[in-house]
Amino acid sequence: MQVIDEPSAIQRRCESLRREGKTIGLVPTMGAFHEGHLSLMRRARADNDIVVVSIFVNPIQFGLGEDFDSYPRDVHGDLAQSERAGVDLAFAPPIEAIYPKGFQTYVDVTELTEGLCGASRPGHFRGVTTVVAKLFNLIRPNQAYFGQKDYQQSMVVRRLTADLNFDLDIVVLPTVREADGLAMSSRNVRLTPPQRRAASVLYASLSRAEERVKIGERSAKTIVDAVRAMIEGEPLARIDYVALCHPETLQPLDRIDGPTLLALAVRFGETRLIDNRIITPA
Ligand code: PAJ
Repeated sequence: MQVIDEPSAIQRRCESLRREGKTIGLVPTMGAFHEGHLSLMRRARADNDIVVVSIFVNPIQFGLGEDFDSYPRDVHGDLAQSERAGVDLAFAPPIEAIYPKGFQTYVDVTELTEGLCGASRPGHFRGVTTVVAKLFNLIRPNQAYFGQKDYQQSMVVRRLTADLNFDLDIVVLPTVREADGLAMSSRNVRLTPPQRRAASVLYASLSRAEERVKIGERSAKTIVDAVRAMIEGEPLARIDYVALCHPETLQPLDRIDGPTLLALAVRFGETRLIDNRIITPA
């Protein structure tokens, strides 16, 4: 595996691989790998001649007072794990290489970023779409891999790709979970043992909501209230949002008449966790 930290170097390398007729799969990440990241790399490995992983904790997608400084970082461990997952090129640039002095161009997806995490983290998706657009331009992959865990992000990136005519496919893969259902996240390591135990309520509440829809409940308010009540039963949990939305427009829904996105964000102490499920009435 080759490690590259200069944007011009990764661009040249990928350009020459493309000229040789190789297909390129890109897995964009912020590092601190877990099985969720590795599942994307393995799938990219199976689908492409060349797998590129980017490791970059993107400062502009963190708001003031968010956890940019304390975000888990383990570049050495990440490089070892990428190599084992069969990655060919790891792109791990320093901040100044991605945002040099004078940088002032941002990419903004509008409507899809208004609700859910966009409402609680203003500017977050603008940071995501800006860095993802830069990665797509540098690497020009045939396919790029994202996790359903960040459902809104995956929809925003699909929109970005279509709207700016990036010539690549976005592949979205299922959420990888711990044994008790908690979605794997780089931030899980920051939970104290009691917070970690309490956090299993997220998966349990999504499952309970799905059961209620399967046995006939159609009112979004009833389902959202039930999910909220179950999470509020955990004294360590503080809800940011619980919402039922159209799975493509992400607009809030009153009734569950077809596949519906149930999405939530909940804090345990300083750690904010997200999860979601697409629920389909029986
Ligand atoms: P990061 O949080 O490191 O996640 C990188 C990719 O891994 C994302 O596509 C995310 O959805 C996916 N992922 C995270 N947890 C997962 C899980 N439990 N199961 C499956 N996939 C999972 O998301 C970002 O980084 C950044 O916003 C980024 C897109 C790299 C832009 O900076």
